[in-house]
Amino acid sequence: MAMPRKRMKLAVTVVMVNLFVFILIFRHSSQKKNGRHKVLIPTSPFWTKMAPVAAYWNRQQQIVDFHNNPVLAFNYSTSDLPEWLAETGLSNPCEPNVKVTTQVKDYNSLPDRFKDFLLYMHCRSYPIVLDQPDICKEPPFLLLAIKSQVSHFDRRQAIRQSWGQAGVIANQTVVTVFLLGSATTWDYHPDLSESLHDESARHQDLIQWDYRDSFFNLTVKEVLFLDWIQSRCPDAHFIFKGDDDVFVNTYHILDFLKGLSEPKARDLFVGDVITDAGPHRDKKVKYFIPESLYVGKYPPYAGGGGYLYSGNLAARLQGVSHRVPLYPIDDVYTGMCLKKLGLGPEKHKGFRTFDIEEKYRTNPCAYKSLILVHSRTPQQMIKIWSWLSSPDLNCQ
Ligand SMILES: *[C@@H]1O[C@H](CO)[C@@H](O)[C@H](O)[C@H]1NC(C)=O
Ligand SMILES: *[C@@H]1O[C@H](CO)[C@@H](O)[C@H](O)[C@H]1NC(C)=O
Ligand SMILES: *[C@@H]1O[C@H](CO)[C@@H](O)[C@H](O)[C@H]1NC(C)=O
Repeated sequence: MAMPRKRMKLAVTVVMVNLFVFILIFRHSSQKKNGRHKVLIPTSPFWTKMAPVAAYWNRQQQIVDFHNNPVLAFNYSTSDLPEWLAETGLSNPCEPNVKVTTQVKDYNSLPDRFKDFLLYMHCRSYPIVLDQPDICKEPPFLLLAIKSQVSHFDRRQAIRQSWGQAGVIANQTVVTVFLLGSATTWDYHPDLSESLHDESARHQDLIQWDYRDSFFNLTVKEVLFLDWIQSRCPDAHFIFKGDDDVFVNTYHILDFLKGLSEPKARDLFVGDVITDAGPHRDKKVKYFIPESLYVGKYPPYAGGGGYLYSGNLAARLQGVSHRVPLYPIDDVYTGMCLKKLGLGPEKHKGFRTFDIEEKYRTNPCAYKSLILVHSRTPQQMIKIWSWLSSPDLNCQ
């Protein structure tokens, strides 16, 4: 007699549960019918028609976005495009683009560096004249890439003798390269090419491309380096890229990297992050950008003095860099590329691009938990490195 009663209880429970679910569904669908959860139909289109903007960089970005948009680009052949959309710019071989002289409204009154930049903005591949094709045969844990200039022999040597010494540091492999443009044919520089070739033969750590190594062309250095990583050092775990006038605590970088766990390591991009910045409109400032070139704010970016990122992210940055027009300020450009990937740089307190307080500068322990300090002379680099390398260094 006990069994059927149990079964009956079970049956009743099942029926009750079914009924409950039925009521829930019924209520839900009747709510839809009586309009409280009506599907909202937008009264105007959810997309906006692209209207050409006047600022030249923003317009170039629109063009590139348009071409890469599978929905919009599908129905149009290039010949159907309005004149300003028809020229893709980015694929042309590197002749100066004289059209900019009429397309940028105040072109003739812009400072020369902007004229140079605009004429060659579509150019992003230049011949490599010094290369180290086998430098990453053993993929390094950390690749140190230092933006230098031909004449900075002493800075490079100080870096080799201090924080940039290649080999095994704290049990990790480190490879160092210096990134150079060309100087001889431009801007009245003395011809240092023979000394440079001697240096290159001795140290085998110079990468040089044949383009004018100016401030506004640092972005060219950035995109050439991203391409170089993919062809010569694609398996580097992490990359530090920075200037040749900073001190870097390589020990602390390695320590920091060893402590990272996987998902974080994959998307790593850390530095001294600048947020809520925008273009300077004062002509006297080094970072002045005219309104005819760029409008809008800057995305968050890490100061170009030095930043640290993963090899995995380097590959994605290289890919996306071909969808972002060159911008005359290299660190802002890298921020733009990160934004296009849906990422942003992360601030790390150890990056001191604005230096540390004067009273701590001669205190060895002040450098122990820092990653980067700007700026330091070659002699200071060697001195600070000797402090940090000393077995007697004792900081609490
Ligand atoms: C593309 O062409 C198809 C067929 O001709 C048309 O139905 C569709 O609306 C067009 N799309 C756009 C975005 O113009
Ligand atoms: C270096 O690596 C070796 C082998 O992987 C290990 O035995 C040793 O403890 C490591 N040394 C340090 C200082 O981490
Ligand atoms: C960048 O380099 C190219 C190639 O050398 C040069 O023609 C151009 O003037 C340079 N741009 C700037 C802004 O210096």
